Amino acid sequence: MVIIIGNQKGGAGKSTVALLLANYLTGTKSCKVTVLDMDYQQSISQKFEKAKILENEEPYEVLAYSLQHFPMMEQTIRQNPKDIVLIDLPGKLDDDGLIRVFKAADIAICPFSYDEFSFESTVPFALVLKKINPKVQVLFIPNRIKANVRYETKTEVNTQLNQIGLVMAAIPDRIDFQRTNTFQTPVAIQAILVPVFEPLYDNFIKLFYERN
Ligand SMILES: Nc1ncnc2c1ncn2[C@@H]1O[C@H](COP(=O)(O)OP(=O)(O)OP(=O)(O)O)[C@@H](O)[C@H]1O
Ligand SMILES: [Mg+2]
Repeated sequence: MVIIIGNQKGGAGKSTVALLLANYLTGTKSCKVTVLDMDYQQSISQKFEKAKILENEEPYEVLAYSLQHFPMMEQTIRQNPKDIVLIDLPGKLDDDGLIRVFKAADIAICPFSYDEFSFESTVPFALVLKKINPKVQVLFIPNRIKANVRYETKTEVNTQLNQIGLVMAAIPDRIDFQRTNTFQTPVAIQAILVPVFEPLYDNFIKLFYERN
């Protein structure tokens, strides 16, 4: 199955969520995962190469990939439908290479924040995605939520996003997330992620396997 992590908004947390989810699915759920890193900075690939030097065995493969090369991967993906391919997308919407990736997606995870600019790029991203692939399940994850901030637009934003997909539990803003590598999520933040990833797994990934 293919899970894309996207939002045209730069810095929304795509690479962070992709990395955390890859760690969770392999570490907690024993899933077979491959990460396709299509980020311009190839931030996950860089962490992966660094971690490989320090550790013995990598729990999943990270492949630096471009949108243009994705069609070469599609046959392999179709031949191994039980394997999870996590795709960390670049923060853009103006590339025709996205069409094939959007069409291949079973689930799309879209990290966002409640500020105006994030919302303004999250909605068009999700709408374009749904137009290209009406069957894809879009899951919105509020990210970098600060404990002491009241988000004025939260209810309104959630209502609008819930018409396109489903708003999941939020990920708080924590410095520990910046220290996550491709082998392990720090124990201190594993617990914070359970309310986000557990329902994502139970209600969408597991369900997908049961249906296919
Ligand atoms: N919940 C969080 N708490 C603290 N820092 C975070 C959190 N989520 C992301 N960050 C930090 O925010 C920055 C941007 O995150 P990230 O690289 O995941 O975004 P992105 O959407 O992949 O960006 P790009 O569009 O450039 O690919 C990184 O430095 C990351 O460590
Ligand atoms: Mg990124």
